[in-house]
Amino acid sequence: MGTADGVTVRAPAKINLELRVGPPRSDGYHEVATVFHAVALFDDLTAVQGEPGEGISIVVHGPQAANVPVDESNLAVRAARLLADRVGLVDADVRMQLHKQIPVAGGMAGGSADAAAALVACDALWHTGLDREQLHGLAAELGSDVPFSLLGGTAIGSGRGERLIPALARGEYHWVIALADHGLSTPAVYSEVDRLRDAGLVPQPLAEPEISGQLMQALRAGDAEALGACLGNDLQAAACSLDPSLEKALDVGRKVGALGGMVSGSGPTMVFLARDSSHALDLAVALTASGAAADVRRSHGPVAGARLVEAIRS
Ligand code: C5P
Repeated sequence: MGTADGVTVRAPAKINLELRVGPPRSDGYHEVATVFHAVALFDDLTAVQGEPGEGISIVVHGPQAANVPVDESNLAVRAARLLADRVGLVDADVRMQLHKQIPVAGGMAGGSADAAAALVACDALWHTGLDREQLHGLAAELGSDVPFSLLGGTAIGSGRGERLIPALARGEYHWVIALADHGLSTPAVYSEVDRLRDAGLVPQPLAEPEISGQLMQALRAGDAEALGACLGNDLQAAACSLDPSLEKALDVGRKVGALGGMVSGSGPTMVFLARDSSHALDLAVALTASGAAADVRRSHGPVAGARLVEAIRS
């Protein structure tokens, strides 16, 4: 990469195979125990060296581009700025182009993927010399899910989601992803789970959330059927409470024999585990025909975290 004028980085969406949420902490976050899983639905970010004095900028392409801010609040811009500050680069001039496929505010860590992609891209462009652990530290400052977007694969997350251990997992899993035509705010969904718990409408959380031994066993064995039976998300009731239309897709998934189905993260995207690729096609057709989803994609996991896929030289 030594003489590259630009680089392209591909970063995956994530789902949570299990997401257990503890009570709110004093810093406003919730302690979680989760199993992250990176799936083949990607944002591609190209970063090229800008003209001197140009600063950091981004343009966004793709069907949901209009829903992505391009100012300083954009997570990729924040990531580039944080990296530049941390390595003492006073005149950071970079032009970023983002091809966005991961749903915006969909519970699949789309913004986190962009932050991770920008970190990897600008790190390569600026030859910062930071190691993986230092990049991970910057990622955790940017958001709870950004470290996993860097790591990829299948990993156990704790803390607010930023502390990661790669999971022993075997096999490839076939997923069907049901996209909504709107987003859900992550803080709103976390607040809703607190409200439902305070009102006694859902079970009380464990003080220290934990993931199930059966789920880890299913992953070690590469057993899709057992995995499907263990999928679980403490935010699902809250996402469905804010958006009751989500129940319909869950029903369709059950009827078509999905091995498991649930809201992804804080929603409203939903994911269904299929037996194999032909079962995934059946599920996708049924979900599309039902009208329960705005768009349906077939995918697989696990896949790698944010990675350089191209170096551009003039
Ligand atoms: O870390 P991130 O910026 O992605 O978090 C967005 C919001 O989601 C937080 O401000 C918080 O309201 C909520 N959150 C939480 N507990 C977590 C992760 C996120 O309450 N473990």
